[in-house]
Amino acid sequence: MICHIEVYGCQMNVHDGEILSGILKAAGHIVVKNAKIAEAVFVVTCAVREHAETRALGRVTHLAGIPKQKPVMVLCGCVAQEHGEKLLKKIKLLDLVVGPDSYHTIPELLQERRRIAVTDQGSEDYEQVTAVREQFPRSFVTVMRGCNNFCTYCIVPYVRGRERSRPAELILKEVEGLVEAGYGEITLLGQNVNSYTHDSVNFPKLLEMVSTLAGNRCRVRFVTSHPRDLTDELASVMASRDNVCNQFHLPAQSGSDRVLKAMRRGYTRKGYLEKVAMLKKLMPDIVLSTDMIAGFPGETLEEFEDSVSLLKEVRYDYAFLFRYSEREETAALNISPAVPVKERLRRLSILQDLQAKITLEKSKEIIDREMTVLVTGPARRTGQMASRTMGNRLVILESLDFTPGELVPVRIVKADGYTHFGKPLTI
Ligand code: SAH
Ligand code: SF4
Ligand code: F3S
Repeated sequence: MICHIEVYGCQMNVHDGEILSGILKAAGHIVVKNAKIAEAVFVVTCAVREHAETRALGRVTHLAGIPKQKPVMVLCGCVAQEHGEKLLKKIKLLDLVVGPDSYHTIPELLQERRRIAVTDQGSEDYEQVTAVREQFPRSFVTVMRGCNNFCTYCIVPYVRGRERSRPAELILKEVEGLVEAGYGEITLLGQNVNSYTHDSVNFPKLLEMVSTLAGNRCRVRFVTSHPRDLTDELASVMASRDNVCNQFHLPAQSGSDRVLKAMRRGYTRKGYLEKVAMLKKLMPDIVLSTDMIAGFPGETLEEFEDSVSLLKEVRYDYAFLFRYSEREETAALNISPAVPVKERLRRLSILQDLQAKITLEKSKEIIDREMTVLVTGPARRTGQMASRTMGNRLVILESLDFTPGELVPVRIVKADGYTHFGKPLTI
């Protein structure tokens, strides 16, 4: 069949889309970008916040109407896992509902032509699948799946199941293949990468091995980390390896000790700041980012101010800011009083305004600096190429004379927060 895949949510889902593409291709199907000619449409969904869920379900209705004949509609991802069977009853357009651990069943389900929901949650690791990667020269390699943390606001452990780490030798084999194929960047992927453990290999050791294999033509990053599991060992591996990017996404969620405890995060503001200080000391040019939630149940104005002051104190380069969203099954549903939605939005916009200012200031700090960027592909505007710094900042090059995968030394000449402009030093 001619298949079209649309993906929402985190990098885990993006890579799952590549795995799904691999499963479909191996079964003889064709995967295309153009939804108009699709006979089967797959929407890989995210359930982390209500908004993400509603948007993904909206896409199902929209996409079903695009091809001339109604395609087989398949809902995948975290919303599929969350609601399963109920979705088939509610949304008549849907033919199949398949959770993140059951994608291998899809070729058979397409043949059977039954309406069914498959949400078995096992220890699926997709070892037998060759993912079809779409983002050369950047690539994802899964190191672990699932999460055991059960932060009280979060649905991920329910929809993604328990933590399981892949054997290091399989990860290294995949990395070797990518390096041989000329990939310029590998992102090690997991809900909680730094709790990776398999046969006495921990995450710092794994990172060291991957970095050695990647060599000087390939950069290594990882996402996402839990602050509690950031160790001195990990920081020193990062600092000592030239090809491991000086970039850390370290989600704080709140700046208040009481709220952090109610979220069950397992660290204090002080402990978190000590880790940030360690990273900054070992890697003075490190690019830091965070996630923060505004209006968690019971968050007082004073506690919210602690989040504001954390943004000011750390001065993150980037922050992903969210208003709290109620999620089924999670423990925070039982915490009162709820912060009214309007107030959550007000607090969110305070965080957003502050961070926009900091992001702009931080991006201006790198003007005139020289760095090597990895060319990733054409930019949105014609005549320009996009590239990334070691810190994962987006740098636009005003020329098409570069090929994806090329490393180019540039001077940063302009910056407006998220986008930077680079002048190649070779020209
Ligand atoms: N495993 C990662 C990512 C989890 S989801 C981690 O632990 O960091 C990505 C982000 O979504 C979280 O960091 C959190 O800030 C946000 N998030 C999760 N559940 C949420 C909820 N119920 N309401 C608002 N934001 C939420
Ligand atoms: Fe969710 Fe917490 Fe697990 Fe991250 S660590 S996925 S926020 S439960
Ligand atoms: Fe969303 Fe699932 Fe990722 S809920 S954030 S797509 S793990």
